[in-house]
Amino acid sequence: MKVFKTVSSVQKHLNSLNLKKSLGFVPTMGALHDGHLSIIEKAKKENKFVIVSIFVNPTQFEKQEDLKKYPNQLELDLELLKSKKCDFVFIPSVKEMYTTRIESEPFDFQGLDKVMEGTSREGHFDGVGTIVKKFFEIIQPHKAYFGEKDFQQLQIIKLMVNKNNLPIQIIPCDIYREKDGLAMSSRNIRLSANSREAAPLIYQTLVKCKNLFLKKDINKVKISVKNQFKNNPDLDLEYFEIADITTLVPSSVKEKNKKYRAFIAVHAGSIRLIDNIALN
Ligand code: PAJ
Repeated sequence: MKVFKTVSSVQKHLNSLNLKKSLGFVPTMGALHDGHLSIIEKAKKENKFVIVSIFVNPTQFEKQEDLKKYPNQLELDLELLKSKKCDFVFIPSVKEMYTTRIESEPFDFQGLDKVMEGTSREGHFDGVGTIVKKFFEIIQPHKAYFGEKDFQQLQIIKLMVNKNNLPIQIIPCDIYREKDGLAMSSRNIRLSANSREAAPLIYQTLVKCKNLFLKKDINKVKISVKNQFKNNPDLDLEYFEIADITTLVPSSVKEKNKKYRAFIAVHAGSIRLIDNIALN
């Protein structure tokens, strides 16, 4: 496994290989868990070469304290990547990626960035778009892998690729969960014992909602979800929405021939957890 720290060294190496349309790219912010590793395994199966980036992108954090608190376990991450037979790792510095100005580019994501995660995380998706675009330009992968855990991010990246006619296939990856259903996240290790015990309710609620969605109208499903969290001392519901998977606009009525997904954000103490599920 080769590790690169500079744009010029990674580009030089990739240019020297015969990639034959078989370079898979998995962007990450490190603190790797089994969710990330499941994506890397999928990429390994589908490509001759796999490159993983580890970069904690400052422009996608609204709060400096969240950026500072982001877990850093580079040595362990590199061991995990080696065990998955990852071919290349790119770990650039902030200076290498942003040179002089640590700023995001403003994007028109056609409203995909204005709902759900976009309402509480101002500028977050411009930061994600900025860094992913930079990585795509540097690495020029044939396929790039994104988890459905961050479904809104996945749809935004798909839009960016389509709008700019980039020759990159975006591959969605299933949400990887703990045995009790909690979606894996680098934030899970920061949950208090009480919050960790309570957190599986998030996925249980989504599963229940999927069953209800077939029989009841959207408002009834929403009321049922709110009731699940009412009076819960450990979990505080921030939003629950049912949205069309292409526009991500929250719906209150079901329309025929549309595909819907349910999206949830919950505060467990100081930790914010998100999850989602396909409904039909
Ligand atoms: P990060 O949170 O490290 O996630 C890297 C990738 O892993 C993302 O595509 C995310 O959706 C996926 N992922 C995280 N948890 C997952 C789970 N439980 N199951 C499946 N996939 C999961 O997302 C980012 O980093 C950044 O925004 C990034 C795209 C790297 C840009 O900075």
